Amino acid sequence: MEGATGMKVRKEQAAQEAGEAEEQARRTRKPGHTLKAEHGGIVVLDFGGQYTQLIARRVREQGVFSAIFPCTTSPDELRWLEPAGIILSGGPSSVYDKEAPKCDPAVLRMGVPVLGICYGMQWIAKEMGGKVEPAERREYGPAELTLDKPPSELFKSFPSRMKIWNSHGDNVLELPEGFHATGRTSNAIAAAENPARKIFALQFHPEVNHTDKGTEILRNFLFTVCNAEPKWSGAAFIEETVEAIRGKVGTHRAICGLSGGVDSTVAAVLVHRAMGDRLTNIFVNTGLLRKNEFEHTLEMYRERLGLHVVGVDASEHFLRKLEGVSDPERKRKIIGGEFIHVFAAEAEKLQKGEAHGDIKFLVQGTLYPDVIESVSVKGPSATIKTHHNVGGLPEKMPFGLIEPLRELFKDEVRRIAKDLGLPEEILVKHPFPGPGLAVRLLGEVRRKDLVTLREADAIVVEEIRRAGLYEKVWQAFAVLLPVRSVGVMGDGRTYGLTVAVRVVQSDDAMTADWVRLPGEVLERISTRIVNEVPGVTRVVYDVSSKPPSTIEWE
Ligand code: XMP
Repeated sequence: MEGATGMKVRKEQAAQEAGEAEEQARRTRKPGHTLKAEHGGIVVLDFGGQYTQLIARRVREQGVFSAIFPCTTSPDELRWLEPAGIILSGGPSSVYDKEAPKCDPAVLRMGVPVLGICYGMQWIAKEMGGKVEPAERREYGPAELTLDKPPSELFKSFPSRMKIWNSHGDNVLELPEGFHATGRTSNAIAAAENPARKIFALQFHPEVNHTDKGTEILRNFLFTVCNAEPKWSGAAFIEETVEAIRGKVGTHRAICGLSGGVDSTVAAVLVHRAMGDRLTNIFVNTGLLRKNEFEHTLEMYRERLGLHVVGVDASEHFLRKLEGVSDPERKRKIIGGEFIHVFAAEAEKLQKGEAHGDIKFLVQGTLYPDVIESVSVKGPSATIKTHHNVGGLPEKMPFGLIEPLRELFKDEVRRIAKDLGLPEEILVKHPFPGPGLAVRLLGEVRRKDLVTLREADAIVVEEIRRAGLYEKVWQAFAVLLPVRSVGVMGDGRTYGLTVAVRVVQSDDAMTADWVRLPGEVLERISTRIVNEVPGVTRVVYDVSSKPPSTIEWE
């Protein structure tokens, strides 16, 4: 998918630009740093599969905490977590590849129920003495599963045939001793188990929607086989996170860079609950924010959330640095670099002043998808590339990191935000790119054009809200094009700028579709922009989807 790749490349570029050396943070997931909620949960050991994150999410949807760890995590570390069960993920390798990822086989002898999915099944089969071979025919996509009798605990009360989703090249030809098949497709053993040792294996993917009863299969594993308790909730997460942060920071201080978005806000509110005003937040006006956004957001942080926030108006500085620059990637690079510079200077000022050298931690709103593509195939010693929200600051400054959201997905963060009682406006806020209006104003960022774009953008958002659509769409905004065209206003000819209106629907920004706005909404937006925003004579509506286009214009 070109669009998705485009975004990834852009994200990676942004991360690189923020400072290559700093971006290479060495990360290992240390079970010792986990929350109480993780105990009694499900550990997903990752073999690098494309659906690993989805498995963890599906488990959490059932109220059972689930965290992903590298497949190389030792049995001792796993024991520390006291998991109710272990799921071995799928993966792109063949078990016979030279570099095929492996678990410690002792994982299968811990007395904890294990479910191997796809590669996980093949690894179990090979490890325990079965036979795995490249399939004559690769199975990819839908297939029909026929269940053996008596039914497995995983398939209790299921119909004897159902649709499943496959994605594998190797097949298990012979099962290890003590195992029997519980389901087959026309080509292969699709499910097997050793119930005495509570080891279960599926060749297909129960976590994807295309598998019938996939959720029930996982529920049967969680609640019948593992006896897991559905105790993971937003409230428990908040309580335990706050407690864990308190334990970690002791009496020291921390700083946090706020962006106005939901992630950094939730991270700051959680940390504020743990340490009060020993957390200082920094909110930078880059001069590239939307109309009244700096003042409005600052007020919300201070008055409604009670956060201790230093507002830094660095707009003149940013705009001077951007003078004469029209290449979008250079704009991004300059903004990213200057952001770090401004943030670091402010942190140092605080450290030398009111903090008396006691700032020991940096808070970031990093989410799971930001952490990495696949944490773990190469194991805990792998160097992992991270997308730091504030571009590699930890490497430059001697701060420990607090990332309370690094296990969560965006929609889970929104749920936590709701449980924390954050204002609705934060919960439903559209994503806004870090480089702000600089990437919605094509070419050089001129002060005058910024004023024009801000006014047009405010009208778009106002009218989308008025039509009751703000919460139903992913993003709605204006883009200012450096394209002049002829118009007539009153009796005279004009030669004004063009505003493009972009309103898109999306689930995760990887793909997006343009929204079929009602004619009257388009009309109001257009009429108001040409009447109320000086210098604009033409309004166009962007009817491109992603891919092949992107959501932003630059
Ligand atoms: P594209 O334009 O790639 O955008 O379809 C996908 C999503 O990412 C946001 N975006 C950015 N966010 N820095 C950010 O923090 C950036 O440089 C950036 N570029 C795009 C965009 O608003 C959309 O939600």
